[in-house]
Amino acid sequence: QQHRDELGTFLADGDRGGQILKLLQKVGEQLEAQRGEIAAELEGLRRHVEHVKAVVRSQQEAAKSGGVIENVALPTVVDDALRLVQDSLDKHRIEVVREEVATGEVPVDRHRLLQIVVNLVGNAAQALRDHDGPRRITVVVGDVDGAPQITVRDTGPGVLKEIGDRVFRYGFTTKKDGHGFGLHASALLARELGGQLRLEPPVQGEGATFVLRLPARMAEAS
Ligand SMILES: Nc1ncnc2c1ncn2[C@@H]1O[C@H](COP(=O)(O)OP(=O)(O)OP(=O)(O)O)[C@@H](O)[C@H]1O
Ligand SMILES: [Mg+2]
Repeated sequence: QQHRDELGTFLADGDRGGQILKLLQKVGEQLEAQRGEIAAELEGLRRHVEHVKAVVRSQQEAAKSGGVIENVALPTVVDDALRLVQDSLDKHRIEVVREEVATGEVPVDRHRLLQIVVNLVGNAAQALRDHDGPRRITVVVGDVDGAPQITVRDTGPGVLKEIGDRVFRYGFTTKKDGHGFGLHASALLARELGGQLRLEPPVQGEGATFVLRLPARMAEAS
């Protein structure tokens, strides 16, 4: 305080002043970087909370009334879904590979779609958690025959041919901690979106592959 008036001279002159300026600049840069990180975390948290709110809301409404249709970039839904299962992906050292072919935006109920993708990546993570061998989930987003699709594939044990489409039945589970709700609900949600959820026929030595097909795009107005 005493030397406040001399601060300018002190900073401008001599070695010490120069060093303090450099130090202050560094501190400033670090604060700036941290602010960026915190902002990103907050954004993630905000989306998370929004999703939870939407899930609760949609359950309360008993999914009777139609959802909100907005233009959605599908990869952002995959981002959100992966974020929601991030803990178990980390814990079980599961690698995620993403393949995205530009699909543009798709008019869809974002929260219904997110619930489906969360169920699919959640199941994939559960199939891999005790799996020996590669633990990898591949999520592919792209248009197939004019219809946007999200494919979730894993390197787990897969679904036995004898079981097949029974995985979609209400209450069908093979897990100690399972309820058999996820895929049943997801198949219904997919239908509500005007799309379809299917299990690919098993391939020897490969894990499970689920394909969510959304409604074909309208032809572009010209
Ligand atoms: N990726 C997968 N790999 C192998 N089996 C799977 C996979 N996804 C689903 N299944 C099989 O389908 C069953 C039903 O899945 P679903 O998500 O409906 O229920 P759950 O995961 O058992 O329980 P919940 O989702 O209610 O917690 C699972 O118990 C499992 O046997
Ligand atoms: Mg499940």
